[in-house]
Amino acid sequence: VAARRLSAVVVLGGISMLGGLVLLSVWMPAPALHSQRPAGIRLITGCVLMDGQPVAGATVKVKTARGFALSDASGNFKLLHPTSGSRGDIASRVLRITAAKPGSFIAGADWTGDPVYLHLQPVDLTDNPHYRWIAPHPDATKPQQCGNCHQSIFDEWAASSHAVSASNPRFWNVYDGSTANGGDAAGWNLLQQHPGGAGVCYSCHVPSPQPAAKLLRDLRRVRAGDSVHLEGVHCDFCHKVAGAAIEPVGLNHGRFGLQLARPTQPQHPQVFGPLADVDRGEDSYSPLYSKSQYCASCHEGVVFGVHAYSTYSEWQRTSYASQGVECQDCHMAPTGLMTNIAPGNGGLEREPRTLASHSLPGSQPAFMRQHLDLELTVNRSASGNLNAGIRLQPHQTGHMTPTGHPSRHLILHLQAWDAAGNLLPPLSGPVLPALAGEPAGGAEVSNTETNQPLAGQSGELYGRTRLTADGRPAAFWEEATFTSDTRLHPDVPRRAAFVFPAAASRITATLISRRFSYYVARQKGWKNNSRELLKKSWSQ
Ligand code: HEC
Ligand code: HEC
Ligand code: HEC
Ligand code: HEC
Ligand code: HEC
Repeated sequence: VAARRLSAVVVLGGISMLGGLVLLSVWMPAPALHSQRPAGIRLITGCVLMDGQPVAGATVKVKTARGFALSDASGNFKLLHPTSGSRGDIASRVLRITAAKPGSFIAGADWTGDPVYLHLQPVDLTDNPHYRWIAPHPDATKPQQCGNCHQSIFDEWAASSHAVSASNPRFWNVYDGSTANGGDAAGWNLLQQHPGGAGVCYSCHVPSPQPAAKLLRDLRRVRAGDSVHLEGVHCDFCHKVAGAAIEPVGLNHGRFGLQLARPTQPQHPQVFGPLADVDRGEDSYSPLYSKSQYCASCHEGVVFGVHAYSTYSEWQRTSYASQGVECQDCHMAPTGLMTNIAPGNGGLEREPRTLASHSLPGSQPAFMRQHLDLELTVNRSASGNLNAGIRLQPHQTGHMTPTGHPSRHLILHLQAWDAAGNLLPPLSGPVLPALAGEPAGGAEVSNTETNQPLAGQSGELYGRTRLTADGRPAAFWEEATFTSDTRLHPDVPRRAAFVFPAAASRITATLISRRFSYYVARQKGWKNNSRELLKKSWSQ
């Protein structure tokens, strides 16, 4: 998981060789360097300046190489670069040296001899509210659009839930009370139940429109018309983020917790990103992009006094946070397939393990399955009854499972049959609570195995529960009289024990993931709300 970050630590620790990539350098006092310098390594020296003044702490690199040096208090740097290596052309290639410092455009110069001077230009961090956002999709008639040059990143993003955050039908159904089948309003309905809160959701779900009074009254106005805002959490929005608040995370929702820097001169584009060596004059290096803090204001939220979204603060309490494993390390991990971020449009071949993926997997069953282990062990007791033991453990999850929207839950469901195929009731063990759906009688919506109402059957529910006084799942804006949190902690196994009658000849344990409770999905007419993740069986 932490491979990308580890390599940075290795670089700081000394001269090192990583796999086939022999391009690493390090900053060290000069005497030590001369005595220890291995053959085939070139020393490059120079100075980083802004307005003629030395710049300390700038990240200096040979473009596309992985190693870096930091400039010292006088702006000087010493960079080591191998003159030979697995790539035979390295010695002969013209070396391009780049320097980056947050708050300035990345600078570059060809190496023609020491010293190299690199001149940084400041980025105008004033935000221009009249800036016109650039749309993400490829369009030959609009050359600035990101997808024209960044096709594979566009494809990843387009399949992610960030791309649908402003068009997601479930979001709108909850917002205006509508249902999937277009019938009368039913169930959760923000505009009707809590109209004063109509302006709360857009800061995270539809972050790019300029905050305005009409949005605060009814966000549906954004849907009228074909605007870039309907692209949800889109490329240009995310790459105009120049800073992110730490405190108070959860109260500054979405765009209000992010410092945007949209250029005042639209003819001079500017983007912020994680690469320190893109010296086209438009790009600014920002280490924030590789930190959880970047994601925090959208993935942490106290909404109407309810701590509805808590992924960031959950992460902060894990050992992943203390080891520096950030959201991006798990959710934007490089696929290893992309070697060029803008092929044919000025992009360079780069080490694929340094290029993040934008598909942001989260609640997809395939991703969840990879991170959950379910074991079922069955033993016959002295009395002949069957003891079924469950061990369920999330691994490599940087927060509680499930996290995210408070409606998410996992259901562990156990069933036992005799040899003739009759279901056998359990003798003991935990039973599923009301949130799993009322028992028999309420099955009018679906008869698929995993969308059945399950309350009262053998099993456990892992999730957050907020119920109204009449026992319904409460929306954020509704008062709850019962709350509980039974989610799984990262890397901690959860065990449960059940006893079934001696006649049982088959026992199954099924793990189901639900986006929303049975009640909410039924009222809204949402299909595929329940997904079977794992199933274990025992038979005799
Ligand atoms: C949710 C905000 C978000 C959205 C939306 C987004 N990006 Fe990014 N992008 C990031 C972050 C964060 C990183 C750095 C990830 C890292 O360092 O692990 C990044 C990295 C990049 C990089 C550097 C190369 C790489 O892959 O690491 C490029 C280029 C890029 N994004 C372009 C785009 C384009 C083009 C789109 C739209 C198709 C887009 N981004 C959408 C947040 C976003
Ligand atoms: C005309 C082609 C083109 C278009 C259009 C374009 N880019 Fe890029 N972009 C590039 C190239 C070329 C690079 C540098 C590639 C390299 O060095 O390998 C780059 C680099 C980047 C980086 C990396 C910056 C860094 O320092 O980490 C980001 C982020 C980025 N682009 C985002 C965007 C976004 C967002 C859009 C749309 C608003 C966009 N780009 C539109 C060509 C383009
Ligand atoms: C501007 C707000 C915003 C930012 C910044 C943002 N997100 Fe999101 N993210 C959202 C919203 C809204 C959704 C839900 C979209 C939907 O399902 O309709 C989402 C969805 C996701 C999902 C998918 C969850 C699922 O249901 O599968 C993941 C994973 C995720 N974000 C991770 C991240 C990470 C990691 C970062 C930081 C690099 C980040 N996000 C930055 C707003 C944001
Ligand atoms: C160590 C790896 C790891 C880290 C770090 C991590 N996550 Fe996750 N995340 C996962 C896994 C695995 C899942 C799927 C299983 C689950 O839901 O727990 C997931 C699920 C999610 C979901 C989907 C929730 C749902 O079911 O709809 C969101 C959103 C999310 N993560 C956001 C974040 C954010 C934001 C951060 C940083 C604050 C972060 N994650 C840190 C591994 C990680
Ligand atoms: C602090 C930022 C934030 C605010 C404010 C916010 N949301 Fe969300 N919302 C998110 C994120 C992030 C996710 C994705 C979490 C996950 O994947 O589990 C999400 C997910 C959802 C989902 C689940 C979508 C799905 O397909 O499963 C619904 C519905 C939703 N939000 C409705 C709302 C409504 C209605 C409001 C306004 C009352 C609102 N949200 C306010 C950040 C926010």
